[in-house]
Amino acid sequence: MDFNLSEEHQAVREAARDFAENHLLPGVIDRDNEQKFSPELLRQMSELGFMGMMVSPDYGGGGMDTLSYVIAMEEISKVDASAAVIMSVNNSLVCWGLERFGTEAQKEKYLTQLASGKVVGAFCLSEPEAGSDATSQHTTAIDMGDHYLLNGTKNWITSGGTSSICLVMAQTHPEKQHKGINAFIVEKGSEGFVVGKKEDKMGIRASDTHTLMFTDVKVPKENRLGDDGFGFKFAMSTLNGGRIGIAAQALGIAAGAFEISLKYSKERKTFGKPISEHQAIQFKLSEMATKVEAARLLVYKAARLKDEGKDYIQASAMAKLYASETAMWVTTEAVQVHGGYGYVKEYHVERFMRDAKITQIYEGTSEIQKLIIARELLK
Ligand code: CAA
Repeated sequence: MDFNLSEEHQAVREAARDFAENHLLPGVIDRDNEQKFSPELLRQMSELGFMGMMVSPDYGGGGMDTLSYVIAMEEISKVDASAAVIMSVNNSLVCWGLERFGTEAQKEKYLTQLASGKVVGAFCLSEPEAGSDATSQHTTAIDMGDHYLLNGTKNWITSGGTSSICLVMAQTHPEKQHKGINAFIVEKGSEGFVVGKKEDKMGIRASDTHTLMFTDVKVPKENRLGDDGFGFKFAMSTLNGGRIGIAAQALGIAAGAFEISLKYSKERKTFGKPISEHQAIQFKLSEMATKVEAARLLVYKAARLKDEGKDYIQASAMAKLYASETAMWVTTEAVQVHGGYGYVKEYHVERFMRDAKITQIYEGTSEIQKLIIARELLK
């Protein structure tokens, strides 16, 4: 596998880093405190092409490969993991799912808007009783002939408030279990579609997470994705790629916390010398750097396999598992390197530590990733 980044990949890194440092960094602490993302920043991210990076230019996207996407995700996550998750869900769950499995009419109508960032998308699989156990869908979609009638509740939906287009999984044929599930494109503003409470979260606080409720929402038949009963396969296939995005987010959080710690260790003095000259700190920095590099290699490998059209189920699960565990470990060590300063908001590492935690949970917990890896190893 060739990891020499092309000029294009390096340009993507530069552009994402420049945007993160000059536009996301100012105000990142306030946005975390206030639990608000700025529409202006979203507009800038869209203009720079970060919301539909892998979508074909035919539908208004950047036409880039997955490696470009993870490079951009890493750089954005080094500064603002909230911005990164809005970007990740839009790119690798909503846009990718629509482009891969949508009809031409669905792509023309919805993908073009999502890829340009004109509107934001949400991916609605989780329910109060269906998190890891995703086949247990209680939301129902009854076939009424020319439309489906959607009823149920979705939980922990990233961009639940800001999104305009939602991909919603629902059960149509309970007797068929997961083979009876369908996936639908549902527009905000549809009668009976209510945005519920916004979650007050530990981390990624500037991204909005909501409960969404559906009561007799009419979904046109042409808004179903794929054949009848394809919804669970749709969700699983889409999540395989989504997990590469979240792995890149975790990598960025870890790399960001490491870079801040390295810089700080050269500035902060104890016992008459910079703390970087104490072996206790050197060992921490060495281990942090090694884990970040290993995570990066796994993320790049998964992205490359996807770009080459090879099977990436195991690689994406490994990348997500390792990068998210690394993010949690590295950010905790980053707080330790900073001592008391690390425990206050000004130094950013406490936010990284809070942001890291969700990467071990969403788009499949670490335990689910281990299950997927084991199934791939044993099949
Ligand atoms: N890729 C493709 N297909 C898959 C798959 C994968 N990774 N995992 C399972 N499938 C297929 C299986 O092949 C099977 O298909 P067939 O019936 O045709 O053989 C079908 O799905 C059912 O699979 P299982 O029998 O293995 O089902 P299970 O219940 O034993 O396990 C699971 C399924 C892997 C645990 C799955 O439920 C899962 O991945 N759970 C985690 C859910 C998750 O990631 N949720 C994240 C929510 S979205 C989110 O967080 C977005 C956000 O906003 C940030």
